Amino acid sequence: MSTLPLRHVAIIMDGNRRWADQRKLPRLSGHKEGVKSLKRLVQHAGAIGLEYLTVYAFSSENWQRSKEEVRYLFELFSNVLRDEFDELAENRVRLRFLGDMSTIPTRLRKSFERSMDDSKNNTGLNLQVAINYGSRLEITQAAKRLAVDVAEGRLNANEITEDLLATYLFTGDIPDPEMMIRTGGEMRLSNYLLWQAAYSELYITPILWPDFTPENFDKAVEEYAHRNRRFGAD
Ligand code: FPP
Repeated sequence: MSTLPLRHVAIIMDGNRRWADQRKLPRLSGHKEGVKSLKRLVQHAGAIGLEYLTVYAFSSENWQRSKEEVRYLFELFSNVLRDEFDELAENRVRLRFLGDMSTIPTRLRKSFERSMDDSKNNTGLNLQVAINYGSRLEITQAAKRLAVDVAEGRLNANEITEDLLATYLFTGDIPDPEMMIRTGGEMRLSNYLLWQAAYSELYITPILWPDFTPENFDKAVEEYAHRNRRFGAD
């Protein structure tokens, strides 16, 4: 049994391109370095017994980046999945992709689906990777599906509760994150887990994502343990 003070941490992995700029490297190579940082953290999170880790890899707004960058990122996701899946499985990681998969290139979408299916019985860390994810899109899609269920008689409108609505989100039955970490220093949520993070503690660090270490993560968890969460009460 883990002695951690929380079950679920969400992360906005920001600052990859600034990391590369600082080193006068090609900007996009920062994303590759970001993968190394993610890999370190996934191993660490599993080792310390964290139950859920949810990372923002591609937002529904990231399509506005250059074609070259979008292609680079998708190729990276595909290569990482191919190269790392076996090790993730050995570490009993259960992998899930959160987001609107309808506009993800078919081959990549299929490999996401296969990896989710192949890892669904794993009992270690639950790793959620948000790709083509945006909270407003997620809530809008949930509202549409609820409306269809009401229109077709499967549901009565007055049966819609917060808990029921939550099950229509991409996160389904995954518990809400107790803490949201953002690297790279920006002070915003960027359309990430807006519903789920309603009461999450925010931890924003100027450290750029490729430089974020397991020790930095432990420090954030340590700070979380000392926060006084009141959920709107006195
Ligand atoms: C934000 O940094 C980061 C992204 C848009 C991509 C995040 C992706 C990874 C870390 C790779 C993850 C890989 C897998 C397999 C899930 P930015 O480009 O906005 O950096 P900047 O703020 O310095 O411009």
